[in-house]
Amino acid sequence: MTEFIMNWLFGVLFAVAVSVTGAAVDLTSPAVFNAIFYITANVEVWHAGARNVTSAKYHWLHHGIDEGLQACGSFHSAQYIRRYSDVEKAHGLHGYRQAIEHYLTTGQHEHRVGYLEGGYGGRWTVSDAHHKLFVSASARMGAAIDSLVWNNHEFINSIDHGRELQMAVWPAFWFRAVNYIGEKPCPGGMNTENTYRHPFSKKVTLECPGISQSCLHFRSTFTIAGVFPHYTMLQMVAPAGYLTGDFTVWRSYDYSSGHLVAYHTKMPVVLSSPDKHFAMGVFASPKQDTDEDMYYGRFVLSKDKITADTNKWNVVFRKHTLPAGTTHVFNYDTYICVGTLNDVTACLKKLTQAHHADLVG
Ligand SMILES: *[C@@H]1O[C@H](CO)[C@@H](O)[C@H](O)[C@H]1NC(C)=O
Repeated sequence: MTEFIMNWLFGVLFAVAVSVTGAAVDLTSPAVFNAIFYITANVEVWHAGARNVTSAKYHWLHHGIDEGLQACGSFHSAQYIRRYSDVEKAHGLHGYRQAIEHYLTTGQHEHRVGYLEGGYGGRWTVSDAHHKLFVSASARMGAAIDSLVWNNHEFINSIDHGRELQMAVWPAFWFRAVNYIGEKPCPGGMNTENTYRHPFSKKVTLECPGISQSCLHFRSTFTIAGVFPHYTMLQMVAPAGYLTGDFTVWRSYDYSSGHLVAYHTKMPVVLSSPDKHFAMGVFASPKQDTDEDMYYGRFVLSKDKITADTNKWNVVFRKHTLPAGTTHVFNYDTYICVGTLNDVTACLKKLTQAHHADLVG
């Protein structure tokens, strides 16, 4: 009996101690911390010498939390405090540590979100209706989407300023007439301009018509005008996605059979983690403005010291030479399914059924 009481008492005391110190909360939980995001989004972390997962974690626990730094694409303590007046009232504008604890213990279960509408500190975050998919862009990365988080897992991060979700055009304007390395003529042809003065724009909606799974509708708009570098084939990438090294399994969705098959350039491309818990699948109607067949590309870019391979997909439309001095605006719609491999397959099935007329004949 005594023993029982002692154990019971000890249990109560222990529970009280835990809630007072907040020791039960994991401040490196993926809901609030991602080492790669933390290093790439905060240049001072890199400069402090924290360049791997272990040292980034240490820096976060001993400096970053109390400095109010952002450590993942879906949550930021400083924005969370500003979004919720009860949190600010309880812990103050600089109560970053308590705000993180609040989010982990209660906020996330109440479906609160950890970012400010309209942007903060040169970063803009949006999420879908269920707050499961988070996408953000930054001024630093020229408004490319440099973070995509689904179910607390980062699919895209801007490690080495290379992993983004963004549109592109070839020939590229960053090739000047003479290559700055070795003064050799650049392979893309002659370009006499430093910058391109005509707009490219995108409209990204975190919902696709008729789709219940997480999905992005990505509309790319290219203006082709003015003095363009010489080309015989204008290639518009609408868009390209550079994913982390987790996405090593490549397939295509065969819309005639409804099954995943070996990767094929003419069928919607699907990338997934080997355990199938995380996947991305891409569909674009081939009946859009293109002079050559639209195709889905895949690339595996080599390892660097910090992280594993980058896995890249793209959707490519092509136009033959347009008359010099004329102006053309091209719009392309691409749908990007996000979720488990099962979610993505179901999403692609719905999308391809809805565009059935574009896929036959
Ligand atoms: C991580 O970085 C720290 C600090 O530079 C270094 O001491 C440590 O050896 C690194 N760890 C690994 C596994 O590379």
